[in-house]
Amino acid sequence: MEGLCFSSSFKITLQSTLSNQASELHNGIHSVSLRAWERRKPIRSLKTRSTIRSEACTGSMDFDTSVSPRANSIKPSKTMAISDHATALVQKGVPVIRLAAGEPDFDTPTAIAEAGIRAIQQGYTRYTPNAGTLELRTAICHKLKEENGLSYTPDQILVSNGAKQCILQSVLAVCSPSDEVIIPAPYWVSYPEIARLADANPVIIPTFIEDNFLLNPDVLASKINEKSRLLILSTPSNPTGSVYPKKLLEQIAELVAKHPRLMVLCDEIYEHIIYQPAEHTSFASLPGMWERTLTVNGFSKAFAMTGWRLGYLAAPKHFITACNKIQSQATSGASSISQKAGLAALGLGYAGGEAVSTMVAAFKERRDFLVQRFKAIDGVKVSEPQGAFYLFLDFSSYYGSYVEGFGLIKDSDSLCRFLLDKAQVALVPGDAFGDDSCVRISYAASLTTLQAAMDKIEKALPLIKPAVAV
Ligand SMILES: Cc1ncc(COP(=O)(O)O)c(C=O)c1O
Repeated sequence: MEGLCFSSSFKITLQSTLSNQASELHNGIHSVSLRAWERRKPIRSLKTRSTIRSEACTGSMDFDTSVSPRANSIKPSKTMAISDHATALVQKGVPVIRLAAGEPDFDTPTAIAEAGIRAIQQGYTRYTPNAGTLELRTAICHKLKEENGLSYTPDQILVSNGAKQCILQSVLAVCSPSDEVIIPAPYWVSYPEIARLADANPVIIPTFIEDNFLLNPDVLASKINEKSRLLILSTPSNPTGSVYPKKLLEQIAELVAKHPRLMVLCDEIYEHIIYQPAEHTSFASLPGMWERTLTVNGFSKAFAMTGWRLGYLAAPKHFITACNKIQSQATSGASSISQKAGLAALGLGYAGGEAVSTMVAAFKERRDFLVQRFKAIDGVKVSEPQGAFYLFLDFSSYYGSYVEGFGLIKDSDSLCRFLLDKAQVALVPGDAFGDDSCVRISYAASLTTLQAAMDKIEKALPLIKPAVAV
């Protein structure tokens, strides 16, 4: 019955579309109807149609239940999709080793957790100022001065519900429609989607494993034009673990200095998860860059606080004011409880003190273990991650090969499905990060778990047979 209703309403919609010469793109109903009409498909197969006819075929009215072009333009997060898939398999009893998620496997350090508990017990459970409590913003200023050589006042800091919110608000505050946001690939999955949400255009610049996935300044120079508004850097990087050396950042800063419209968002959320001799440099600390930089940081990774949802932005005051306005109309301030916990985190000492350095030492041991094991596998290219807790491995020599009972390994997606199916290890396809030749493995898991995962991967890979030349 419903299909028949759609059939009649479809014709009415189509006629009105043609007679009104309405913009196809502007209206979801019209564009779907026209395309379906052109393909002459049976109306019952119109799965994408989002018009609902009221009063069951009485012919009165269509409701437009389509989602907006903005929402439609956003890709769902592949990291979440693969994690969900792996979790579903685990719930069915399949012993999947999950190395897809981007969160530390450690518990939040006790001193931080206790500060949160105390906040609840002491009734510190009300709204805080939208920008975050003064005591936390003051502590963040102190941290930025001591650890990063950056001078900010509390009114140049905005505390948000995670670094992701800081990035979204920054892009919304800086970019106008059609501005270009330059994003080196491999990138963190959300950067291009956030640019799209702001009606800006992501401009992706590929980087290569041979260069340790670092941006080539000459290539960057060739991509900058009058529409370029924002360059997003992530150091240490998710997904590659690369750390931008100070020298390279200085070269990038020289380029930025030549383009008065270009701003930089530097995502430093993995700052503390770094392995010597690599050193972290804040982009805003370079000569002339303080005014041009929005520095994003947060508590999720270094302090194992992903669920507390706490991040912050440091930037010139007018950007903070703009982001603060957006936040005030979207979510209001971050959780009062998390802010007390964040304060305790910053009180742990330089770079998170012993609690953080213990986690970083464990991450380093795991990185060394994985690098060594993957380097021993034929056909896998390994970069030199110096931070974060990921390896981004080039498996492209396996593409084009066939696996009996599975099919063709044609890209990073099919390789990850193969590894999930045959090795029961969940990794994330590099395609999600803008580089289909690679896959990302997260080593936020115990050494024993990683050893088991490597054994399974090494056992499964020989099932992939080289493609037969025709
Ligand atoms: C590079 C990068 N930036 C930002 C975030 C967001 O972190 P938060 O949990 O603070 O929103 C993540 C989380 O995965 C990340 O990997």
